[in-house]
Order: sequence, then structure tokens, then C-alpha cells
Amino acid sequence: MAAIHVVIVFLLCTSLCTVVKCDAYAQEILSSAQKEKDWLVSVRREIHQHPELAFQEHNTSALIRSELDKLGIPYTYPVAKTGIVAQIGSGSSPIIAIRADIDGLPLQELVEWEYKSKIDGRMHACGHDAHATMLLGAAKLLNQRKDKLKGTVRLLFQPAEEGARGASQMIKDGVLQDVEAIFAVHIDATTSTGAIASIPGPFTAAGCIFEAKIEGVGGHAAFPHQTVDPLLATSLAILALQQLVSREIDPLHSQVLSVTYIKGGDALNVIPSYVKFGGTLRSQTTEGMYHFRQRLKEIIEGQASVHRCNAYVDFKEEAFTPYPAVVNDKDLHLHVERVGRLMLGPDNVHEAKKAMVGEDFAFYQEVIPGVLFSIGIRNKKVGSIHSPHSPFFFLDEEALSIGAALHTAVAELYLNEHSI
Ligand SMILES: *[C@@H]1O[C@H](CO)[C@@H](O)[C@H](O)[C@H]1NC(C)=O
Ligand SMILES: [Zn+2]
Ligand SMILES: [Zn+2]
Repeated sequence: MAAIHVVIVFLLCTSLCTVVKCDAYAQEILSSAQKEKDWLVSVRREIHQHPELAFQEHNTSALIRSELDKLGIPYTYPVAKTGIVAQIGSGSSPIIAIRADIDGLPLQELVEWEYKSKIDGRMHACGHDAHATMLLGAAKLLNQRKDKLKGTVRLLFQPAEEGARGASQMIKDGVLQDVEAIFAVHIDATTSTGAIASIPGPFTAAGCIFEAKIEGVGGHAAFPHQTVDPLLATSLAILALQQLVSREIDPLHSQVLSVTYIKGGDALNVIPSYVKFGGTLRSQTTEGMYHFRQRLKEIIEGQASVHRCNAYVDFKEEAFTPYPAVVNDKDLHLHVERVGRLMLGPDNVHEAKKAMVGEDFAFYQEVIPGVLFSIGIRNKKVGSIHSPHSPFFFLDEEALSIGAALHTAVAELYLNEHSI
């Protein structure tokens, strides 16, 4: 009987935490955020229906600025072309930053629902619409508490996370000036709504792309001895690349190399004069990625030379700067975990799983300590179970107010603990 009674009391209490372990301050912030749910949902749906690609987020940026105007929060614009930097608090140190990315993806949304993307071939499939909305929510809550803040919170609405180094551009434009710590969330469809996941140290991978051209001498397929066959050289180069991870990399240090295309030749009776191929490589550490890249180049050039061909390897740095690895600061990670437990309950703070994806938040962490943590959106009832970048990606909008509340409490409590 007693056990059943306890279970019932537990179920009756807030779904997010047990009565005993939760903290009044964190609960107050969460309930303030939940009162903003309708507003947050409407902002997010507006952004969701009009996804814009890297550095073209003009309407998204205008929408965010109009909400900041309504809230009376000062900001700087443009930063990094379409980005916005708002600031709340005392204006003096400590200064911390919270970053939200705002760009969508070149992807056709395949979810049929009322607020589906209105733009063909573009979709907010990585949850950046939710990130931007959560940060706006935090802007509103922090602004209500601005006289209590023991320092300054800088809100970074960053363009172009998806492969276009928006974070680098923000840093070049000076957004980290005097900032001592930076926080960000990313939605996560493997973690339940109402939970978060974080990890100290390496989290997401360093990565880069490559393209190679192997040049031989083309000719009639009936006279291979009169040609220098670049297709054979390419085949052996690609096979040789597969040995890199298995034979040269510490098995405890994750690295991935994927060749994703090969193009060469058009005819069935002609040996082409050259072949192009390319792909991506990722490493748990930034140094590992640079070493890996060097070996990739040597192997392609070496294999080409064995087969009397020439090779040219291009890392396309102009279009795609290599991403450093996201490496979370241990103390900031512990801070996030602590705030997560206070707000969501100890059972809802998990260890994040490392992933070989890239995230340009890493650029900020090259300059100052930061933590990127995952915010759960998984909810079978609403169908939010698909991974980011899937055309079926769907958001549990309950996560919006939780994200806004977490940003607020993470920032305010950090300032309380670090003010001089
Ligand atoms: C941006 O807003 C303008 C004016 O409302 C509209 O004409 C345009 O289609 C919008 N662009 C996108 C990408 O939503
Ligand atoms: Zn993405
Ligand atoms: Zn993303």
C-alpha cells in the first residue's frame, strides 16, 4: 500500500522532478517559462515555416529583432551579416554568452502538418528554429529579472551553422569581447523531452572535406597499355584509405573517413584521362583531424604515383573551413548538470553520447571555455523521434519553454556564483 501511495504522489507531482529534490528558484523560472508557451510556439512556427539558408536569414533575423524590440531589449545588428547580439544585465563583468543558431537546411520537409515549411526544398530539420526561440524566451525571462542579474548576459543569434562557419564570422565581429564563458543547447531526439544530456571533454568531432583528382592518360579501352588508367589508381587509392583508421589510429580514438563520390569516364570503351572523388573525414580531436588529413593526402598521392598518375588533393578551405571538435569545459559542464538537476530532477540529467557530427560551436570554444549540451525532444506521442537532418524531423514544442528556462537559470546562477 505504502509503495503504491508513494508512486501515486510521485505521479501527481510535476512530471519533471520529484518534490524533494527540486529547488524553488529553478521551479519558479520553469513555471515563468511555461507561461510563455503560446508565444514561444507561435514564434517557433513562424520561423519553422520560413527556413532560410546560411547567411540569408534575413526574415528570421527581422523576426527576432522585432520580438526584441517589443521586449525593449537592446541589440546590435548586423553581426556576421544576418546575426544579432542582444545584451541584458548590469553591463559589467562577469559577461557570459548564450548562443543560438538560426539557419535552416536545403532539405524538403516530408512531415505533413499545419505549420510545415512553406518553402520548397528548405527545412528547419536541425531544430535551429527551436534554438532561436528558446533564446528569445530566455531574453524575455532574463529581461524581467535584469535588476537581479549580477553581471551581463550576451545573447548571440548566429547565422550559418550548417557548414558555413557562422560562428567564426561572429567571433571576427567581436562578439566574444570580454566574455568569460559561453553556453549553447542543441535539441536531441534520443533524449526524452524534460531531460538534458551533457558531457565534459570531447563531444562532437572535428571534421573537414576533401576532393581529389587523379590524372592519367586516357585512350581506347582496347589498348590499356597505351593509356595511364586513372580509374584503377583511384580504386586502389580508395581501398588504401580504408587502412588508415584500422592501422594507424589508436583504437580508443574515434576517427571516420568516408569517400562519398567518384566521377570518371562516360563511355564504355574509353579509359578517361582523369577521375575525381571526394568525401569527409572526422576525428575526435582537432589535432587528430589535421594529422589524418595529412596522411590522406600522402596516401592518395602515393597510390597515384605507384600507378603512374598525378594526384591533386584539395581540402576546399575557402568553402568549408575545417571544424574543430566541440570540447566541453568541465566546470561549465558541472554547472549545467547542477542547474539541470535543480530544474528537471536528478533522473533527467544524463551523460551525452559523443557523436562524429560537426558543430561550429567549437569555434567559440577555441577562444573561451564553453559547454554545448543536449536538450531532449523525444516524445513518441507527438512523433518527435527522428534524428536531425531527416526530412521527417519533428519537434516536441514542450521543449521550447524548458530550453528558455534552462538558459535563464544557467546564466543567472552562473553570474551569482562568479560575481566579484
Ligand atoms: C521574406 O519576407 C518577404 C516579405 O514578407 C517575402 O516576400 C519573402 O518571400 C520572404 N522570404 C522568405 C525566404 O521567406
Ligand atoms: Zn545540423
Ligand atoms: Zn544543428
